[in-house]
Amino acid sequence: MAEGNNLVGVDIGSSSIKVCQVKETRKGRSLHKLAFAPLPPQTIVDGHIMNAGVVTETLSRLFADNQIKQRNVAISVSGQSVIIRKITVPMMTPAELDEQIQWEAEQHIPFDIKDVQIDYEVLKRQPERGQMDLLLVAAKRDEINDYAQFVREAKLKPIVVDIDAFTVQNLFEVSRGFPTDQTAALLNLGASLSSLNIVTSGVSAFTRDIASGGNVITEEIQRQTGVSFEQAEAYKCGESGEEGDGGPFRQAGMVPQQVHEIIEGVCDTIAAEIQRSLDFFMATSGENEIHRIFVTGGTANLTTLRNAIQRRAKTAVEFFNPVERLTIETRTVPEALLRERHAQLAVSVGLSLRKDKEKRA
Ligand SMILES: Nc1ncnc2c1ncn2[C@@H]1O[C@H](COP(=O)(O)OP(=O)(O)OP(=O)(O)O)[C@@H](O)[C@H]1O
Ligand SMILES: [Mg+2]
Repeated sequence: MAEGNNLVGVDIGSSSIKVCQVKETRKGRSLHKLAFAPLPPQTIVDGHIMNAGVVTETLSRLFADNQIKQRNVAISVSGQSVIIRKITVPMMTPAELDEQIQWEAEQHIPFDIKDVQIDYEVLKRQPERGQMDLLLVAAKRDEINDYAQFVREAKLKPIVVDIDAFTVQNLFEVSRGFPTDQTAALLNLGASLSSLNIVTSGVSAFTRDIASGGNVITEEIQRQTGVSFEQAEAYKCGESGEEGDGGPFRQAGMVPQQVHEIIEGVCDTIAAEIQRSLDFFMATSGENEIHRIFVTGGTANLTTLRNAIQRRAKTAVEFFNPVERLTIETRTVPEALLRERHAQLAVSVGLSLRKDKEKRA
């Protein structure tokens, strides 16, 4: 168990803010607090916070209403402001690498190096070839600073800034572990983004954010039927399988046939886009099989999408429940909220595993 106290995980997603607090004892981990609030459309666009006031107010309210006293938090960024690359560099010492990394990054990052925060992890040393593989992460400073600033304005203290895809990987590792000699694809299917992280023997081999998620389904229902955003969301959620709550449209027969067909169509398009990324990985990595696909995120509630991905990828798709290994503190965690929203918690739970005294952020 890493040293220090758990941070509160704050996931500022484009459709909603999720806040989780996990407590770790020798007996295991428990979910101590859970808070959720939807954000109005257009609050966050392409990963940029367009309406800082709403985000700050919502955060303050969530912490106050749920009596979350711990102010040290972990947040994450994703999307276009983050670039993740696996690169190969000559063998060098950690000190040399620290010195060289800016230069190495410059060769691989399409942003001005002055504008990005660089981090890396050594994936594999190959002394026989005089090389080592690194996972290079570059995130735009402006974006990180914006998120951190809005969080500070809510009187919170951001201690760790992580990347969505890695928080999900970290949570999966802690919950289930990655088998060696197997390749798993983790998909976090959100509202505006779907992040793909392909993990081979426990190490991230490929990541990509696909600019498509639950919103494109809702928007297509709106466009073709002329209903409001809220009604289109309700129709869509009424389609979800046993994982999601489903809401008022859950009962069979209440979602019009036309809507079923729209959902089928858009899910197939999303699955095709995911498949293109899987194909790209297979063509470039030398791996010849993806053994399993795990899906999480709000849009993973949609059985139609899970089936579409499974059909295209010809690989078993399994739902990953972010809280499956946590004990739930029923005195402080609203049961109905957890039932309805559990699929959406991977990033916030993953963040809540981070500690305030870790060596590296
Ligand atoms: N039961 C359900 N059935 C179908 N879709 C659902 C269900 N519950 C939530 N969703 C969809 O999941 C999406 C929200 O998921 P999530 O909270 O993971 O996204 P986010 O983190 O806010 O967005 P992003 O990561 O893309 O910025 C929305 O599009 C919502 O309509
Ligand atoms: Mg998200």
